[in-house]
Amino acid sequence: MGKLKGNLLFFLSLVFLFLESSIAVDTITPAHSINDSQTIVSAGHKFELGFFNTGDSNYRYLGIWYKNIPVRTVVWVANREFPLVNNSGLLKLGDDGTLSIFNELRSIIWSSNSSLTAKNPIAELLDTGNLVVKDAGDDNDERYIWQSFDYPSDTLLPGMKLGWNKKTGLNRNLTSWKSSEDPSPGEYTYSVDPRGLPQLVLRKGSDEQFRSGPWYGTQFSGVPVLKVNPVFTPIFVSNADEVYYSYNITANIPSRFVLSQSGSVQHLSWNDRHSNWYLIFTVQEDRCDNYDLCGSYGICNINRTPNCDCLKGFEPKSSKDWDVLDWSGGCVRKDPHICHEGEGFVKFTGLKLPDASQFRVNVSMTIGDCEAECLKNCSCVAYAKLDVRGTGNGCVTWYEDLIDIRQVPQNGQDLYIRMAASALAQQPENQVTISKDETEEDLELPLFEFATIQAATNNFSPANKIGEGGYGPVFKGEIPSGQEVAVKRLAENSGQGLQEFKNEMNQGGLHLTGEGDMTSLLG
Ligand SMILES: *[C@@H]1O[C@H](CO)[C@@H](O)[C@H](O)[C@H]1NC(C)=O
Ligand SMILES: *[C@@H]1O[C@H](CO)[C@@H](O)[C@H](O)[C@H]1NC(C)=O
Ligand SMILES: *[C@@H]1O[C@H](CO)[C@@H](O)[C@H](O)[C@H]1NC(C)=O
Ligand SMILES: *[C@@H]1O[C@H](CO)[C@@H](O)[C@H](O)[C@H]1NC(C)=O
Ligand SMILES: *[C@@H]1O[C@H](CO)[C@@H](O)[C@H](O)[C@H]1NC(C)=O
Ligand SMILES: *[C@@H]1O[C@H](CO)[C@@H](O)[C@H](O)[C@H]1NC(C)=O
Ligand SMILES: *[C@@H]1O[C@H](CO)[C@@H](O)[C@H](O)[C@H]1NC(C)=O
Repeated sequence: MGKLKGNLLFFLSLVFLFLESSIAVDTITPAHSINDSQTIVSAGHKFELGFFNTGDSNYRYLGIWYKNIPVRTVVWVANREFPLVNNSGLLKLGDDGTLSIFNELRSIIWSSNSSLTAKNPIAELLDTGNLVVKDAGDDNDERYIWQSFDYPSDTLLPGMKLGWNKKTGLNRNLTSWKSSEDPSPGEYTYSVDPRGLPQLVLRKGSDEQFRSGPWYGTQFSGVPVLKVNPVFTPIFVSNADEVYYSYNITANIPSRFVLSQSGSVQHLSWNDRHSNWYLIFTVQEDRCDNYDLCGSYGICNINRTPNCDCLKGFEPKSSKDWDVLDWSGGCVRKDPHICHEGEGFVKFTGLKLPDASQFRVNVSMTIGDCEAECLKNCSCVAYAKLDVRGTGNGCVTWYEDLIDIRQVPQNGQDLYIRMAASALAQQPENQVTISKDETEEDLELPLFEFATIQAATNNFSPANKIGEGGYGPVFKGEIPSGQEVAVKRLAENSGQGLQEFKNEMNQGGLHLTGEGDMTSLLG
């Protein structure tokens, strides 16, 4: 009895295996084409390829969709612009490895158009959702003749690359569908702008709508949601051969980025329990992500009304326009003397790094050299540290006007903006002057009379003492401009010299000298 049951099970599983393999073919060969009612399914039953139509339309397209998701979700379309008018289409693999779609008149309406050829070609739909053409038996992904992942539609799947192969000039970008019934290319594209400081850019036609800000280390400067978390690993590669964005998912759940018809870039994940796609996040977070909303040197803050303001040290170019909330004219410097006239840099914190007509990147430059480099050239308006390879080094310098700056809620970056000497002395709140001259040796710092400091701290009153720093006590005080300051009074035998002061200042402090006494003013 037990044996019989075992045999039956064995027999049933054989039948099952046979059915599986006969139904779920994952390849196309020159001898076996696919007609309108046939599909191929990836080996692990994740994706399916075949002809489909959308909504009420009779047009037929060749595409790839999830096999096991009840809501038909198309992730790739071959003949986006060239629909078949009825169900007599045919997908064929040529002897040279070219995939072609034939219409009812047996003429080719789409082809894979690879410059490479295969001796013994086979097309296979992989469990990643990638349709690849290769030489039978050769699984090296660097030798694929052609792959659908290189020609994205509106969807980025885990493992797909968005960006450039610099050697071949291949540019992979997402293009929205025209409408939910029409997969032909719509108005929006999402692509990698490879110039100098690569970033993701969303365009409507040729108009820039949104940019990610540059990648630094583990995320983009202005897109906090695109950072690593336990199930999501963003990947950004920029080297001599390639520059692309990609991502991995560790959880075994369907995940995709899609560029919607209205131009939002959404990250969706399949929710089995509710049987629907769950929106994890939209890459554009809020109104401040509208490209260049506040004009040159304007800064967008989502927690303020109105959202736009000029950076400290700048004023509206046209206050009339600004009054009616037209910020497009942007801001100009209150004091334009920034060309070898005693200017320096003011540190702004918590920002999405700006865009500009030109920027330069040097991945091996230290922040000190970066500053010196910027100071040398009067068109250099700002610099920042860019830890692109986790080395701690990396320098970006910006030329001409800075645009599309926003305050980011978390993990914003520091930007050092070139400012006239007059703006340096003012010390606007939460911005710190870090230096005035080219080298650390020649630091010239704002000087305060000892009496000013004495008055500010109520003659170093114990009531004003807020702590004990290295080398001496620290006092709270208020200088005549109304700014609150912390003052460090050196112990006579502290041993802290001018050089130590300068080092401390370079780490964010500002120091002062007074009559025979040295004082450090921390932020
Ligand atoms: C596709 O081919 C199969 C098997 O040859 C056939 O049964 C089916 O009718 C064909 N479908 C179309 C739309 O031609
Ligand atoms: C498809 O359309 C063509 C021309 O429009 C027609 O000749 C052909 O018979 C149609 N095929 C089917 C299967 O309807
Ligand atoms: C195939 O490539 C040729 C030459 O590069 C080009 O003219 C043609 O439009 C391409 N066809 C398709 C369907 O992309
Ligand atoms: C998107 O890719 C296509 C095909 O490579 C290219 O023609 C187009 O210029 C690209 N658009 C952008 C904005 O990169
Ligand atoms: C992403 O996944 C691919 C395929 O599983 C793997 O080869 C690659 O190393 C992963 N990359 C990262 C950064 O996790
Ligand atoms: C980058 O900076 C390093 C160190 O300052 C310098 O030696 C190198 O020449 C710079 N590279 C470029 C391309 O400017
Ligand atoms: C300053 O930088 C700009 C932009 O990179 C460049 O065109 C110009 O030649 C530089 N000027 C000097 C004096 O190096």
